[in-house]
Amino acid sequence: MSIMKNKKIILGVCGGIAAYKSVGLLRLLMKQDAQVQVVMTQASTEFINPLTFQALSGRAVRTTLFDPDAEAAMGHIELARWADMIIIAPATANTIAKITHGFADNLLTTLCLASQARLLIAPAMNEKMWRNEAVQNNINSLSTRDNVFICGPEEGEQACGDIGAGRMTEPDDLLTYCMMQLSCEKNSASLSGQKVLITAGPTIEDIDPVRYLSNRSSGKMGYAIAQAAQEQGADVLLVSGVVALKVPKGIKVITVRSAKQMYDAVFQHIADIDIFIATAAVADYRPIDIIASKIKKTADKMTIECVKNPDILAAVGALEDKPIMIGFAAETHDIKKYALDKLDRKNLDMIVANEVGEQKGFEVDTNELHLFWRAFTHHHVNEEQKKYYKKLAYASKTQLAQQLINEITRTLVNDE
Ligand SMILES: Cc1cc2nc3c(=O)[nH]c(=O)nc-3n(C[C@H](O)[C@H](O)[C@H](O)COP(=O)(O)O)c2cc1C
Repeated sequence: MSIMKNKKIILGVCGGIAAYKSVGLLRLLMKQDAQVQVVMTQASTEFINPLTFQALSGRAVRTTLFDPDAEAAMGHIELARWADMIIIAPATANTIAKITHGFADNLLTTLCLASQARLLIAPAMNEKMWRNEAVQNNINSLSTRDNVFICGPEEGEQACGDIGAGRMTEPDDLLTYCMMQLSCEKNSASLSGQKVLITAGPTIEDIDPVRYLSNRSSGKMGYAIAQAAQEQGADVLLVSGVVALKVPKGIKVITVRSAKQMYDAVFQHIADIDIFIATAAVADYRPIDIIASKIKKTADKMTIECVKNPDILAAVGALEDKPIMIGFAAETHDIKKYALDKLDRKNLDMIVANEVGEQKGFEVDTNELHLFWRAFTHHHVNEEQKKYYKKLAYASKTQLAQQLINEITRTLVNDE
């Protein structure tokens, strides 16, 4: 039985070109036997006729706050209580701003204020609008709220001819996202009894007492995953590089500096571990010698000779009794190719790939993840491949961490 069966969904539609896509989303929700009440903003009725949604949902579409007939039946507060989830797709810059600042000047924004249901927002707009500081500030503020989830937007060609981020996430990805959100609730404490070791952050390789080689990893993804695993009942050990983050309560942490120290800390504990999640950005090389005193600026050129660091993932992967292993790959291009190569080479069960770019990857609070399971490489039929690949659409790292832990639990621990 679908997790969506009989779930009560408010589908909010705003005035953007992508309004036509929410017809597709409505159809998918209806196919899953969800109960859907469509709420349209006035602007959205310029793009698509409410009759279309009415015919597909089997319910009269709500478009106004001041509707005596509707208030006499299911009033706006009742409707807000009724919903298990509110999905706004497409969400315009205008509605996003209103929700961020608590406006309640139409039915949709009023419902968002009055409801305690999860709110899933799928932004869609011109890429310059999306990159506008005001919109980004609103999105960042919304994504810190507990019950708000931002899904998308996607990159690509836009209706106006521009290319960039701003396309609404496709309906089938939105449906997957809703289902994951609802199953997160269902699976709470599903990792209880599991010992999880997570590496996070950068490593630092000293050159002399004042200089070092390192990278831009902030540790945010690893820390969010540690917290998500703990919320699911896991016993979490975090082996962390030097980062500026607070350790979530109840998580044991070993702080290390260099790749060699990280390797040693992992191997001190790995024998007891059920699941190993390697998010740390470990330096591939370190200087052969650490110079004892500060190198002086005398020569015009200098060379730092380096030696390869031990490969933590490969070494854990080579263990006879290895834990379930999840690796990360951060790439600037060809992410699928490099990720699949790493999945095989390091004998991982799953690889999580992300593209480093604007508002994605290092340092920022948001990301987009591509998950590949081991079986992906052995299947060549498209339908089969879908089972072994999943994209977690652009969202805050906290939300992505919860979804990732959910996927690990579902596919690698419970083996669904
Ligand atoms: C042809 C056209 C297309 C538009 N597309 C978008 C869009 O994709 N995203 C967006 O945020 N605003 C878009 N707008 C602007 C919104 O329609 C406008 O901000 C409106 O006030 C949104 O109202 P709502 O948020 O209540 O739906 C578009 C406007 C026009 C005229």
